[in-house]
Amino acid sequence: MIKTVKDVDLKGKRIVMRVDFNVPMKDGVVQDDTRIMAALPTIKYIVEQNPRSLVLMSHLGDPKKDVKKAQEKAEKAGKTWTDADAEKFINGKNRLEPVVKYFAEKLGKEVKFLPDALGQKAAIDALPEGGIAMLENTRFHKEETSKDAAERDTMAKELATYGDIFVNDAFGTAHRDHASTASIAKFVKTSVGGFLMEKEVKYIEPMVTNPAKPMVAIIGGAKVSSKIAVLESLLKNASALIIGGGMAYTFLKAQGHTIGKSLVEDDFIDTAKDLLNKAAEKKVRIVLPVDHVGAEGFSADAAPVAVDGMDIPDNLMGMDVGPKTVEIYKKEILAAKSIVWNGPVGVFEFENFAKGTGEVAHLVAEATANGAMSVVGGGDSVAAVNKFNLASKMSHVSTGGGASLEFLEGKTLPGIAILG
Ligand code: 3PG
Repeated sequence: MIKTVKDVDLKGKRIVMRVDFNVPMKDGVVQDDTRIMAALPTIKYIVEQNPRSLVLMSHLGDPKKDVKKAQEKAEKAGKTWTDADAEKFINGKNRLEPVVKYFAEKLGKEVKFLPDALGQKAAIDALPEGGIAMLENTRFHKEETSKDAAERDTMAKELATYGDIFVNDAFGTAHRDHASTASIAKFVKTSVGGFLMEKEVKYIEPMVTNPAKPMVAIIGGAKVSSKIAVLESLLKNASALIIGGGMAYTFLKAQGHTIGKSLVEDDFIDTAKDLLNKAAEKKVRIVLPVDHVGAEGFSADAAPVAVDGMDIPDNLMGMDVGPKTVEIYKKEILAAKSIVWNGPVGVFEFENFAKGTGEVAHLVAEATANGAMSVVGGGDSVAAVNKFNLASKMSHVSTGGGASLEFLEGKTLPGIAILG
């Protein structure tokens, strides 16, 4: 387990804390506050310990990428692009101030917004006793995400002057080796995790190291390429791997089935074969769809067509799993003591093709009620459990997308590795 805020004396100390307030925004309005609410217990605890000051930092979006995209779009449209355009774009879209306001309301305390991540030492020193402040988006400085460690260190060193103790509660960003998530720990004496970080580690880590058995992993989503590492990792402990969603068709093709117009990554057929062989050696059951719900085209109003077998005809693409597949899921999921779910098993965003993923959500909820430990991670599967109002029925719903995936892959996450 990691060292947390409970293991250190915070009274009278200056705390600098990384949170992941990278929340979906629309026209300056927070669309989903899960990550903000998830960080509140740690923030409230710190405040109750009467620190000298608490400075929060987060990124929002990916300004560098956003500017690049906007520039490409402008240039494609024949417009000239200037530095001023980039500046306007950054200030317009990725400013953290509306998030800070929202968060202050939820906390029920005054939070001073500091208009830059750097150059704030004097303003922080001037905070009243117990004052709380939050910095502007850390990613407005290129040093934050720089691939050059020395460059990241220049920013981290300055951020470290804002606190005596570094608290990292940003699980969602723990897979990033950035100035405010990891490098900062080199320049403060003490680095500890918050309660969210502790909870994420507590639930996810055993799924990779020592899960209660039998363990079943449900891995879905569009691409084999993005899930192969997690499949390999979970193969070590799983009794069964349920492979669903778009990636299942690459596996079916690897087994010699016809897949019609379904999504496929031909470059990964050999990888899929390799995984199927490894699973057979380890006697891990691979559960692929045995029937499907297909459609002639990829759209919300496409008519669902039942495909009663593994092979999909030429005119159809697989969009969801069929009822026989769900029956197999049921046997596996309800017999499991540990369940990891990452990625939907169908195009659940379209009502006509949401049934399979809905059934998985209900089965995982039922297994959890019967005593299984269930962990749901990854943006799409989290969106699915929310859609079916079942988030509270899971043992743990991760706040991390990429972070939970990399953690399940068995990787060491930089934002966790630095916690002493
Ligand atoms: C996320 O949303 O997964 C985290 O906040 C990390 O964001 P990033 O993928 O832009 O680094």
